[in-house]
Order: sequence, then structure tokens, then C-alpha cells
Amino acid sequence: MGYNVAIDGPAGAGKSTIAKLVAKEKGYIYVDTGAMYRGLAIHFLNRGIDPEDREAVAEACRDAEVTIGYEDGVQQIYLNGENVTSMLRAEETGNMASKTSAIPEVREKLLELQRSLAREKDVIMDGRDIGTNILPNADVKIYLTASVETRARRRYDELQEKGEDCSLEEISRDIRERDERDMTREIAPLKKADDAVLVDSSDMTIQQVVDEICRYCR
Ligand code: DC
Repeated sequence: MGYNVAIDGPAGAGKSTIAKLVAKEKGYIYVDTGAMYRGLAIHFLNRGIDPEDREAVAEACRDAEVTIGYEDGVQQIYLNGENVTSMLRAEETGNMASKTSAIPEVREKLLELQRSLAREKDVIMDGRDIGTNILPNADVKIYLTASVETRARRRYDELQEKGEDCSLEEISRDIRERDERDMTREIAPLKKADDAVLVDSSDMTIQQVVDEICRYCR
């Protein structure tokens, strides 16, 4: 079994930024499980599948294979052998991932991939249900959060930097909706594990959050 650090929290809390930096400092492999859900979401988008149609989603899972690789230490997602990493961050993909991740067949599809990575390697894995469901025996569990306003602003700045047209209000609404879906779904909802450390990054710099998390890690 590798040394396992789980980071869960809502969209835009900074999990991936922080987890990548902790991985670098500690020599762990960073595993972004949201990217796996996004990879499957691209499959559903390509097929024009309605995310509310659970049967169609479950059926489409059967001919989707999501795998993970690393190029220069950066995680890559392959959908049926094609590298789809550059398509993962679109809002449309995130929304499709949030909706379809509530469907059991979707979660089932990715569960073993996530657990096998943690068995083999020292990982810092981020997601929604890592500490509660995927790796209940993780060595360190962090629940990283921030206010909706802070998270919306961060996402807005990120999109602006990429030159994408967006509105702060729309992003806030999207974040609220995604929180609601991720936290209230029946299967593996986002919640803090009882033994997770709560870190609220609203008023912290990136380095402060990294330092705090590193203190809990081997
Ligand atoms: O972290 P992210 O925004 O890339 O995740 C996209 C969606 O995938 C998110 O809205 C919920 C879902 N997800 C999940 O259900 N479980 C995970 N472990 C990771 C992501």
C-alpha cells in the first residue's frame, strides 16, 4: 500500500493547485479524480447523451474506457485511447461531470482505477469522496473549502487569464448549483470525513495552505 493523502472539497476550493504543490514538495504522485469524471463526461457529450437519462448514461459507460498516464509529471486522461486532457476544463464538461457523477454506474467505473493507483503509489488524490469512500484508510485526510464568493472569484480570474468570456454572476450560480448537486446526491455525496482536517482557504495564501497540509504529511 502506498502512502495516501486524500483531499476532498467543493468545486473551486483550490484542491488541484494545492495538491500539485504538496505532491511536488513531498514526492507524491498527484491524482485528480475530477479529471476522470470529466473524461467520461466528454464521452457523454460526444454521444449527445442527456445527463438526466440515467439508463442512457449507464449504457454509454459500457463502451467508455478512461485511463490515466503522466507526461513530464502531468496527469493525462485518455478516453478510449485518445488523450482528452486539453478538453477537460470547459464549463460544459464540468457541468456534465457533476450531473453524471451522481449515477452509480459512473462511480463504479472509476472506483477501481482510483483504488489501484493508491495501492501502488504514494499519492495525493483529490476529489469529493476520497476520504469518505475511495480511501477510508488514507494516512491523511483534508477537507479543503472556501466561501462561494472566493471560489467564484478564483474561477473567474482563471478563465479571464485564458481569455475566455465569462460572468462572475454566472460562475457563482454554477458553483452554488454544483455544490448543491455534489452535496445532496444519494451516492457518495461530498462531505467532510469525521477524521478529516478542515482547512478553509478563504483568507489564506496558496503557500499557507500548502504549508499547513504538509505539516500533517509524512
Ligand atoms: O473537481 P472537478 O470540478 O474537476 O470535478 C468535476 C465533477 O466530478 C464534480 O462536480 C463532481 C464530480 N466528482 C465526483 O463526484 N467525485 C470525485 N471524486 C471527483 C469529482
